Amino acid sequence: MIRVLFVCLGNICRSPMAEAVFRHKVGKAGLSEAIEADSAGTGDWHIGQRPHRATLEILRQQGIGSEGLTARQVTAEELAEFDYIVALDGKNLRDLKKLAGDRPTGRLTLLLDFLPEAGADDVPDPYYTGNFAEVYDLINRGCDRLLAEIRERENL
Ligand code: 4NP
Repeated sequence: MIRVLFVCLGNICRSPMAEAVFRHKVGKAGLSEAIEADSAGTGDWHIGQRPHRATLEILRQQGIGSEGLTARQVTAEELAEFDYIVALDGKNLRDLKKLAGDRPTGRLTLLLDFLPEAGADDVPDPYYTGNFAEVYDLINRGCDRLLAEIRERENL
């Protein structure tokens, strides 16, 4: 099983959206037995909460399931258990590297590393911008590329 972890700050807006969108794409590709998605936040404020209602609304509009999404905080120990750890912005990536310290981790990347034409490193935080549609567009396109990259690297 290839394991992919999406990480943002609160695990209620961006990373649960990415988890659900990516899982949906993996399912459509017939790869649910080969690739698994999860998400977590670097912060602890929303532990146990369901995603933001605007994230849930976008997923519903797109026909993407949101069952099982509950906010949690990432731990240093689990970073070795994932093959791909995909940060939604640069601060998330720096915080993950700090958290990992000298421990081994899976491949740490930014989602938008896979989407150079976006011309940005960060998926903007909609908790502050309110622009969930922009976030969905970046996540949707980024996840297409991420899945293509994983299929190529893992021969899937
Ligand atoms: P997320 O958005 O990182 O995309 O889940 C946020 C959610 C909550 C907070 C910040 C960002 N917060 O400060 O509570």
